[in-house]
Amino acid sequence: MALTTTFLGLKLQSPLLVASGPASHDVNQVRLAEEQHMGAIVLKTVCSDKYDHMRYWPRPRYKLLDWDKQIGGRSKYFTLYSYEQGYSGTLKDYWEFIKACKDHATVPIVGSVFADVAEDWKELALKCQENGADAVELDISSPHRPGSLDFETTFIAAINTVVKALRVPVLVKLAAGPDVLQQCKAAEKCGASAVTLCNRIRGFDVDIETQQPILHGYYAGVGGPWAKYYTFRHVAEAAQSIRIPISATGGATTAEDVIKYILLGASTVQILSVIMVNGWESVSQIHHDLKGYMQQKGIHSLEEIRGKALQVMTSPEDIIRWSGEPKTGARNLWKPVEGHGRS
Ligand SMILES: Cc1cc2nc3c(=O)[nH]c(=O)nc-3n(C[C@H](O)[C@H](O)[C@H](O)COP(=O)(O)O)c2cc1C
Repeated sequence: MALTTTFLGLKLQSPLLVASGPASHDVNQVRLAEEQHMGAIVLKTVCSDKYDHMRYWPRPRYKLLDWDKQIGGRSKYFTLYSYEQGYSGTLKDYWEFIKACKDHATVPIVGSVFADVAEDWKELALKCQENGADAVELDISSPHRPGSLDFETTFIAAINTVVKALRVPVLVKLAAGPDVLQQCKAAEKCGASAVTLCNRIRGFDVDIETQQPILHGYYAGVGGPWAKYYTFRHVAEAAQSIRIPISATGGATTAEDVIKYILLGASTVQILSVIMVNGWESVSQIHHDLKGYMQQKGIHSLEEIRGKALQVMTSPEDIIRWSGEPKTGARNLWKPVEGHGRS
């Protein structure tokens, strides 16, 4: 029984990855992640020089919302509201950062990049590869990206160009929304090695006392444990439509969430908010509980259950529907509508 898995040809000690963000912004964090047996680390996204301003963060840049709201017992609910854009150093610092990660850790390192024109995406991605990154993730879905960058016109060209130029695997990170399935298919067609589903979304909040927007006064990235439900759906849909692997991300805080993502077809699961809110110890707990689940179910590898829940998923045509209004206390007297349902 082992948590080890192979993802994009990389041997990982766990299907759990550190998602790009403040927990993968320096070498010490990478070493901490390795100590916690994380499968791989997606480094904080570096932006091209055109987006130099994104390297300077407002302070404070995070606010934890809803953490004290309780329904029933102890709350496991929160919303992480943040405005942190790119890696805070220069491009040169980032290349040094990748090299240092490779010198001080053995865990696979995934560079993460953001630009606008295809040539800039390619240049950044190639530099990641050149400095030792084992894979590169294209962050085309940041909640802070400028509105002028459109999937069809900008990102398709970027994915095509990067995929052609790189020899290491290329992951394309997408955001939740009505177009995500189309985008997964397009990324696959462009030759992407995997998709990462789903980035956080852009949200907003105001303070009713001051009657002003909170924090830095503009829209922010939002996420939290609640986000997993729509990402579960996007992962399930994608797993049934594309052949390239899926790295799930969004709202996973427990082993149960990780298992659900795998049952819905994900190969790996990227986490961040739970590390930020509960510390690195939360990773030990997840790993401990994953092993407990495998033992209980007699599973030798989590790969055995990948996509299992999809095999028995029903379709809209097969959903059993009932005719007539419910009679009080007589649910079992309802009659199925003719022609619908499996009966
Ligand atoms: C403070 C913060 C900063 C983030 N920065 C990045 C980033 O630079 N690049 C990126 O691709 N995703 C970034 N993300 C998104 C995470 O990588 C991750 O996909 C997302 O938070 C969902 O996972 P979680 O619910 O476990 O946090 C950031 C998220 C947070 C909370």
